[in-house]
Formats: sequence, structure tokens, C-alpha cells
Amino acid sequence: MDNTQKQIILTGDRPTGRLHLGHYVGSLRRRVELQNSGKFDEINILIADDQALTDNADNPGKIRDNIINVVLDYLSVGIDPNKTTICVQSALPALHALTFYYMNLVSTARLSRNPTVKAEIQMRGFADEGLPAGFFAYPVSQAADITAFDATVVPVGEDQLPMIEQTREIVEKFNRTYGETLVLPKAMIPENLMQRRLPGVDGKAKMSKSLGNCIYLSDDSKTVKKQVNGKMFTDPTHLRIEDPGHTEGNVVFTYLDAFCTDDDFKRFLPDYANLDEMKDHYRRGGLGDGTCKKFLINVLEETLGPIRAERSKWAADIDAVYDILLTGTKKAQEKTNATLARVQSAMRIDYFKDRSIIGDWERLLRNAEA
Ligand code: TRP
Repeated sequence: MDNTQKQIILTGDRPTGRLHLGHYVGSLRRRVELQNSGKFDEINILIADDQALTDNADNPGKIRDNIINVVLDYLSVGIDPNKTTICVQSALPALHALTFYYMNLVSTARLSRNPTVKAEIQMRGFADEGLPAGFFAYPVSQAADITAFDATVVPVGEDQLPMIEQTREIVEKFNRTYGETLVLPKAMIPENLMQRRLPGVDGKAKMSKSLGNCIYLSDDSKTVKKQVNGKMFTDPTHLRIEDPGHTEGNVVFTYLDAFCTDDDFKRFLPDYANLDEMKDHYRRGGLGDGTCKKFLINVLEETLGPIRAERSKWAADIDAVYDILLTGTKKAQEKTNATLARVQSAMRIDYFKDRSIIGDWERLLRNAEA
């Protein structure tokens, strides 16, 4: 295999909604850094619309309508189509074929043990309603995604570790059964706690559209203000400004941890040199939530303003966005088709590449006699 030394990234998202600050902190920011680090030979981002269908089969329109939105989100945070290939899963038939072969290398018992899928089954009520086989098996399709691109590195959140583990098992089993063919990938998870998970503005563990607790990358400044001032959870024991307050579990401070820099203090809140000083004051008492929220809004605008500007630039030229996706997808088709060909030839089911594989009549006769 000539791909073993190359450093190749594959990562992806289910296009079930616009991307929000949780995505930004948890993955997008990192992807842009990795893209610009110059350390990787190839970077691919897969819009996993087929995976999204495994629990939205009755609503393909929801996924369809979010594909361009997600591409816009990528472009607006700084994903550069000259450095990163952005592609759509459903237009890559090699992934479907690979999934079908890999299914035979995994037991249903093994799939049932996947903790992330288990939790998702609970959350979606599939335990009572009936579990779609496609949803149950989506980790296998994710293994197809990863191996089809010969990915060596898969940057993901912690909840995706079981998928990478499953992929590695499939790779090992495939290579043992059919000969060294597939590249063994590694997960790359966020190093610091701050990148792991940004809570919703209401303090719930996760930002989710149905809870209305998200700040979207595409939200205008009025909406951001409304979410922070109107909904952001602070410290319920901090009733009067003079009262001592808690910064732990206080969403305003969690967001400041994720976004603010010392420079932001110089510009917007020169009473403090840094976040530690501000937190100390809040804990002692005497610092009001209103001041903290106002500062946070300024800090968030520092990040969101440029993203919003970039988004509206691209949104004014949707033809170009569509073209970026088409070009990326074509490139991905070539790559994934090549992997499928390699897989089929390792399995010796490439019957029409080499006539002797099924067309050596003398060998068949000999075997029949033996
Ligand atoms: N399962 C991932 C998620 O829900 C999305 C995804 C699909 C993915 N295919 C992938 C991530 C391949 C990394 C690599 O976020």
C-alpha cells in the first residue's frame, strides 16, 4: 500500500441542522487549525447525509435542506476548499458497497455493545418503536467512510470513540482475512476539557434544536443577545449583586472559558486583566450578572461577527458553494472508488478485472473432480 505514510484526515457531520457554537468549540475550530497546520497530506470532510437518514428515513427533506447550510457553516468558519475536500456521502456509492462487505465482519452482538448507539437508541425511543437495522449498523457504514478515504487520523468528539474502535476492529479483521489492504485509523479527540462539550444556554448538557438552547453560527447579533440575556443560566444563589457567586456550572463563565482572551478584557472590560480576576470578583460578590452577560455578548461577537460576514458573502453566491460541493464530491468519488477496487481485488471478487478469477474452466473442472 502506498498510502501508509501519508497523513490523511477524514471527519464528518450529520446534516440535520445548522451548526452552532457547540460544533464550533467541539470540532470546527480544531478542523481549521488542523487544515492550516500544513501537517496533513489530505483533509476530507464528509457530509454524512446517508447516516442522517438512518434515523430520519421519514423525513429526507430535513436533511436535504441542511446540506448547503452545513457547507456554508464550514466555509464561514474558515474551511478552505482549496485545502479541504468537502463531499456528500450519498453520492459516493463505494461507501455503500464497502458497508455491505464489512457487515459480514461484525457480529450483531458486537454492534449491540456500542455505548453511543445504545444511548441514541434510548434517546430516540427506538427500543419501543422498533430499531431500524440501518441505524443499528451505522457504525459499520462509518467504518466504510473512514477506510474509503484511507484515513489515518479521525478528529472527533469523545462520543465517537466507539465508532473508531469498531472501525479498527473491522480493519484488523479485513486485513487478517483478505490480506493487508486497509489503513488502520486513529481517533484524535479534543485535548482540553473546554473543547469537549459546550452546554446549551440553559445549562443542559447539550445544545439541541428541540430544546431551543443553541446559539447558531448563523444567528444575527440580536438573536445572540436575546439568547444570552433572556435564557442564559447563571447562578441561582446569586440573588443580589453583593452576594457571593458561583462560577462553576454558571454558563456565562463556561462560555467565557471557551471564548474570551486577555485581549477581550483590554477592549471591553478593563477593570480586570483576565478571566481569573473577573471570576474572583464574582465569587467574592459585587459583580452583577448583567455586566458579565454584556461582556460575554461582546466576546461572542468577536468570534461570530467575522463568521457571519463570511457566511453572508458565500450566501450571496450559492452557485459557487454548490460548485465547491460538487468538485469535492467528484474528487471523493475517485478516491473511494479506488479503495473499493482495492478491497474487491483483495477479496478476489473483481471478476471482470481478471478473467482467470472465474473464467479458468480447467481449474474449475479440476476442483470438481478433486
Ligand atoms: N457519526 C458522526 C457524528 O454523528 C458523523 C460521521 C459520519 C463521521 N461519518 C463519519 C465522523 C466519519 C467521523 C468520520 O458526528
